[in-house]
Amino acid sequence: MTYDAASVRALLGEILGALASAPESDETRSLRERITAFAARPEAELTPQLALEASGVALGNMRHFPKEARGLVGSKANAIKQAGEAALAAERELAEPAALAAERTGKGFDATLPAPKLEAGSLHPITRVTRELEDLFTSMGWSVLDGPEVETEFHNFDALNISGDHPARDTMDTFWVKTAPRAQRLVMRTHTSPVQVRAMKRLKPPFRAIVPGKVFRNEAVDASHEHTFHQMEGLVIDRDISVGHLIGAMKTLLRGIFGREIEIRLRPGYFPFVEPGFELDARCPFCKEGCSVCKRSTWIELLPCGMVHPNVLKAGGIDPEQWTGFAFGLGLSRLVMLRFGIDDVRHLLGGDVRFLEQF
Ligand code: DAH
Repeated sequence: MTYDAASVRALLGEILGALASAPESDETRSLRERITAFAARPEAELTPQLALEASGVALGNMRHFPKEARGLVGSKANAIKQAGEAALAAERELAEPAALAAERTGKGFDATLPAPKLEAGSLHPITRVTRELEDLFTSMGWSVLDGPEVETEFHNFDALNISGDHPARDTMDTFWVKTAPRAQRLVMRTHTSPVQVRAMKRLKPPFRAIVPGKVFRNEAVDASHEHTFHQMEGLVIDRDISVGHLIGAMKTLLRGIFGREIEIRLRPGYFPFVEPGFELDARCPFCKEGCSVCKRSTWIELLPCGMVHPNVLKAGGIDPEQWTGFAFGLGLSRLVMLRFGIDDVRHLLGGDVRFLEQF
């Protein structure tokens, strides 16, 4: 049977007729418009492909037709579908041997052209550094933990001893997630630190863990600020933990990253969830006398850290009389930039293949 656009159109007319007795609603109105659009096509344009689409619309919306008309609509729509399918199959049968025959003549085939290039993917620099750090820490017995990127206000702020009026909570800095008025408030986590509290609640001390992950800030984006970047939190909970343990772990971390001993210094730093808190600087691994990376100071501000505040231990259900700990928050994105000499943070998540290909 040859495909006949006129009969398809007539069948569509009958389907539309069945819709006339359906109660008026937004759904029936939009359905009528869609089917009318098919039926209104000039016959030359009402191709088998379109016929198939039209039958799909009718069959997929059967519930909007009046009950008594559904049998009729079904049979008409199926007739359209069969006509369309048969016509497409016939076209294919004709086209395939023709294409094959053309190929067999060997015309247009050039055996000297290079084969299509095989595209091999590669690991993102953040993934590479994350995996290296995971290897380093797991080899020392630490666990690798994960936490939600959409975080409760409690875990992101309160449990970390960050007061209700702390400027970090401001919408200028934090992406708040729209929630129902009385529901628990949610944020895109602004740091990986909330996983400290989740870890304390879930694991029995003593434990040691790192938490690599994405964090989000409401930033004006430029070469050194992104709204989305990566951090790696570290947390150790044990008995009698001292600043000495913290320094030892940080030196090991830097040795792992830079492949040699790196001199460090601690300066006081304030973060509500640690006491005392520090800014740890590393001796610039790239120069001796000062360079653009260390802004001529020979020191690079590398990671904030400190001794876990008793209030945070309590929020995590851990007795601060028995347990102590240290924590650090490594700026993973920044470290990746230092490591590979990347001068603009926007490259990292920009998705530009010309950047990614270099790794
Ligand atoms: N969460 C802090 C931030 O994103 C960084 C930080 C500071 C993490 C001190 C820590 C820490 O674990 O001890 O700014």
